[in-house]
Amino acid sequence: MINPKLEEEFNEQINKELYSEYLYLAMKVYFLEQNLQGFVNWFDVQVQEEHAHAMGLFNYLNERGGKIDLRAIEKPVFKGNSPLEIFEEVLKHEEYVTSRINHLADVAEEVKDRAALQLLDWYIKEQVEEEASVGGVLATLKLIGEDKNALLQLDKDLAARTFVAPVIG
Ligand code: FEO
Repeated sequence: MINPKLEEEFNEQINKELYSEYLYLAMKVYFLEQNLQGFVNWFDVQVQEEHAHAMGLFNYLNERGGKIDLRAIEKPVFKGNSPLEIFEEVLKHEEYVTSRINHLADVAEEVKDRAALQLLDWYIKEQVEEEASVGGVLATLKLIGEDKNALLQLDKDLAARTFVAPVIG
């Protein structure tokens, strides 16, 4: 059985990952409207990754005999009105998710759940990759500035991103 405090944190994190999926789906709508299909693809992949993150926690909690408690997903909100502003928000959001995962690991440590810590190690590494991937696009967007041709080239590059189902744990 899993410690109730950790069970609560897992349930909360399932919700946060599903919110991330929903947030990136909302951002995808922005890029659909801008007809930037490479960005649309980037967010499509991101949506699938977030779903996989949520399901990794869901499956693990179930495997450990925890009670899965699905909660309401908030309406996704973002203020950005340009690719640069949106990626700044994506990076902020990923930094927030990283802090949440670190918090989960702190709780797992507190209740001495070594098995959960092993799983959370995967999520900790994944967050390093998430922040690096988003930070890379953000850095390019800063270089691009107002150069429309460079933005279209980045859009082409982002079209190449593919989803590879992660092996979690
Ligand atoms: Fe599931 Fe992007 O963190």
